[in-house]
Amino acid sequence: MTERLEEAGAFVAERVATPEVAMVLGSGLGAFADTLGDAKVIPYVEIPHMPLSEVAGHAGNLVVGTCQGKPVAAMQGRFHLYEGYTVNEVVFGVRLMAALGARTLIVTNAAGGISSSLAPGDLMVISDQLNLTGSSLVGESVAAGPRFVDMTEAFDPTLRGVAIEVAEAQGVSLAEGVYAGLLGPAYETPAEVRMLRTLGADAVGMSTVLEVIAARQQGMRVLGISCITNLASGISGAPLSHEEVTETAAAVKPRFEGLLNGVMERL
Ligand code: HPA
Repeated sequence: MTERLEEAGAFVAERVATPEVAMVLGSGLGAFADTLGDAKVIPYVEIPHMPLSEVAGHAGNLVVGTCQGKPVAAMQGRFHLYEGYTVNEVVFGVRLMAALGARTLIVTNAAGGISSSLAPGDLMVISDQLNLTGSSLVGESVAAGPRFVDMTEAFDPTLRGVAIEVAEAQGVSLAEGVYAGLLGPAYETPAEVRMLRTLGADAVGMSTVLEVIAARQQGMRVLGISCITNLASGISGAPLSHEEVTETAAAVKPRFEGLLNGVMERL
């Protein structure tokens, strides 16, 4: 694992400047990478040992450039357990960006809203997570970072505060809540959504939670932003579809990009 990361890191480091901030851009949110200044696009296929991403709405590039004058590495497309990737593959990109020198991770996703205060099109800053994927950073350990990762305040309180201040200054509403990450790829049943609500989840998705554990293992501070693309299963009674997810994410794009830019300005 460590050797593969070093090879991938050396390959990328030869081509780009050291990033301060790492980003993972979720379903329908990848276009933010196109707004980076002086961007260098490195397709995942070119990076040694990097898995390839397959889901529609995910591009599959590491884009390194600047945002508000700060060097950023952004993953346009991520890896999901439900695609059959191993945990080490799912978190490879985050570990790579940490190895390149990024000390902050901004992780984003599309999610279903469970809390009655969430509606499609809302943005939610993640206050905490429930890892319900049934997996974790099992298997081979990485040389850097503890085996037993502390997950207290996994989502940096200062960064959450910054995001909320930025949203207020921009006059956009920003919710705050707990993100539950499930294996997928089927959407939840209404009974499962009721269970998740009882467990304290405000939103549900199929990504993010393992990446956050990997980032915390590397000592990165983490900001998580969910784009609520739909009401979770059973809440409205309407069927869920990936098209709805990507369409809503696209509609949220200006607010999402405004928020990210505002946060980047204050980092
Ligand atoms: N459930 C799981 N993952 C999702 C959802 C959902 O409702 N919306 C977007 N990703």
